[in-house]
Amino acid sequence: MMSDIKEILISAEQIQAKVRELAERIGRDYRDKNPVLVGVLNGAFVFLADLMRHLDMPCKVDFVSWSSYGKDTSSSGVFRIMKDLESNVESKHVLIVEDIIDTGLTLHYLLDNIRARKPASVRVAALLDKPSRRRIEAEADYLGFQIADHFVVGYGLDFAQHYRNLPFIAILKSEIYAGRGTPPDELE
Ligand code: IMP
Ligand code: MG
Repeated sequence: MMSDIKEILISAEQIQAKVRELAERIGRDYRDKNPVLVGVLNGAFVFLADLMRHLDMPCKVDFVSWSSYGKDTSSSGVFRIMKDLESNVESKHVLIVEDIIDTGLTLHYLLDNIRARKPASVRVAALLDKPSRRRIEAEADYLGFQIADHFVVGYGLDFAQHYRNLPFIAILKSEIYAGRGTPPDELE
């Protein structure tokens, strides 16, 4: 796997330090609020698992999985709910946990969807943000790192379902993308 990597953008140590820092802020803001952390599958599961182990307070966890119609992963803005929340979040404090905000479409419509369930509050924690790719308003309240417009893998993020197990965030060599199809978000 290491031979497929062109560059490590964010090291495992940098990620771990940032996750601890975000957890401290979240811990202060949500003390006594018994929040529900809502992980967006599949990409957010690694970040969520690390983040919640640094939270020294009662909290619950739930997951959603949304898939967008169309040939690339996130450009159509029309979603199919593959898995919905199992819990009722009415009057609860919801913290959505995302791997990356790219066009913003997933998060924008997910926020609408969660708000319609009348939670006490809803905020967003995202590990990565690519602001230059934004097509609709979407923003994290707790953000790990802003990155430039690269297709990245690792720490939960995949290319063709692989590389999620890398402990860092990396860019793959161009021949890897070329050999297995262009990364969906770089087609445009
Ligand atoms: P958005 O709806 O365009 O903001 O994108 C949301 C989803 O696309 C993210 O939750 C990721 O699963 C996926 N995605 C966006 N950029 C990347 C990337 O650079 N690497 C891997 N997955 C990505
Ligand atoms: Mg995702």
